[in-house]
Amino acid sequence: MFVRRIAVIGTGYVGLTTGACLASLGHDVVCADVDADKVKRLTAGEVDILEPGLADLVAEGIAAGRLSFVLGAANAVQHAPEVMFLCVPTPMGVGGVADLSIVESVVEEVRELLPVDCVVVNKSTVPVGTAERTEELLDRADVAVVSNPEFLREGSAVYDFLNPDRIVVGGRQQDAAERVAALYAKLGAPTVLTDAPSAELVKYAANCFLAMKLSYVNAVAELCDRLGANISDVTEGMGYDKRIGQAFLQPGPGWGGSCLPKDTSAMVQLADAADFEFRLIRATIDTNTRQRQRMVEKVRLAVTGKRNGSLSRRKLALFGLTFKAGTDDLRDSPALAVAALLRQAGADLVGYDPALKPETRHPDLSSVTVADDPYEAAKDAEAVVVLTEWPEFRSLDWSRLADSVRNPIVVDTRNLLDPAVARRAGFQWIGLGKP
Ligand code: UDX
Repeated sequence: MFVRRIAVIGTGYVGLTTGACLASLGHDVVCADVDADKVKRLTAGEVDILEPGLADLVAEGIAAGRLSFVLGAANAVQHAPEVMFLCVPTPMGVGGVADLSIVESVVEEVRELLPVDCVVVNKSTVPVGTAERTEELLDRADVAVVSNPEFLREGSAVYDFLNPDRIVVGGRQQDAAERVAALYAKLGAPTVLTDAPSAELVKYAANCFLAMKLSYVNAVAELCDRLGANISDVTEGMGYDKRIGQAFLQPGPGWGGSCLPKDTSAMVQLADAADFEFRLIRATIDTNTRQRQRMVEKVRLAVTGKRNGSLSRRKLALFGLTFKAGTDDLRDSPALAVAALLRQAGADLVGYDPALKPETRHPDLSSVTVADDPYEAAKDAEAVVVLTEWPEFRSLDWSRLADSVRNPIVVDTRNLLDPAVARRAGFQWIGLGKP
């Protein structure tokens, strides 16, 4: 395998994972960020992202002299990279369209500094056509631009990077795409070499499919509730079909996080712009919005015994606030979306999350008082509502919880708990799609 000199621009969870993992594959990597404090901390080996294995890889890379951190993209380019990865944020802008201003400003900054024959790689999720637009902005016949989307899940980003299901690289120049694909040669993953628009579309098409799978399973769980069927048995029976698979079939309070909501909205926008109404994705998003409301209706019925009962001044304990287990990320968290609806309905909310401290601040956390102990959160609650699938909730002392709540009701929106354990402890357990 060729060892390459690589620059990575942006040290968020995608950039830092990319830099640290490429260094672990033997490449010589310099990562740049605009935040001077962050650069200083990373240089000292301090990683503030909760991502298993990442801090160790960063420390190993620094110790081996294969990984370093600098302030600003221009300084990274001094390193004479053969390949430069763009891993900067592409937030959702007005109307759900990705905001590319950071990508554009980096391109502007490095345009005249990039070494001859360097390949620029877009790893951020960007609208179809961005690689070609970047080529225009760069206006350098000797510098190729390729798209190489990431498929990393938060909480297992290092594992996903080093054990990819596939590598996708697309660009106008085949040799540049091959050079980028070769960076991953050691991983032995199937590789799709294509043009840039196709590579860019793979990311949206994959994430929208995952979101659609979840909206579908949440709707089937609703049907199970109405028909007296058991969603776990239904998804198990479906999942043995190799064309469907068992993964990503767990019903919940709706999907969220930093990717699926952003990418589904962007897909609708990019289809609209191409004069195609992508109804399936619109329905996927609508189903997700309704799912959150359905969780509120479940809680309302459980607590008041009526479909139109009032939740005003009812105290609820929310277990789990992050968008999924294994992360401290609250971005687009379905748990917080459900919390906001419960608050609108008048409920008083105390939350507990293993990844959060009472002093955690987040704009969407304003409707919830955060406790640093689940038993304290549950004190005098009229129901416990499980919103994130933290495995440790299973091993709580549910008898002790039953003693401290006002009503021993648990609405388990993740079907996480063993219903028999909850019932033995004296709780009425209410799941999703469970008779
Ligand atoms: C996702 C994609 O999986 C990843 O490939 C892409 O690069 C980024 O977006 P991530 O946002 O880390 O990764 O979260 P993911 O694990 O996919 O979960 C997304 C949401 O779906 C979470 O809210 C999660 O709780 C929910 N989910 C997931 C379910 O409700 N049920 C499931 O079976 C799986």
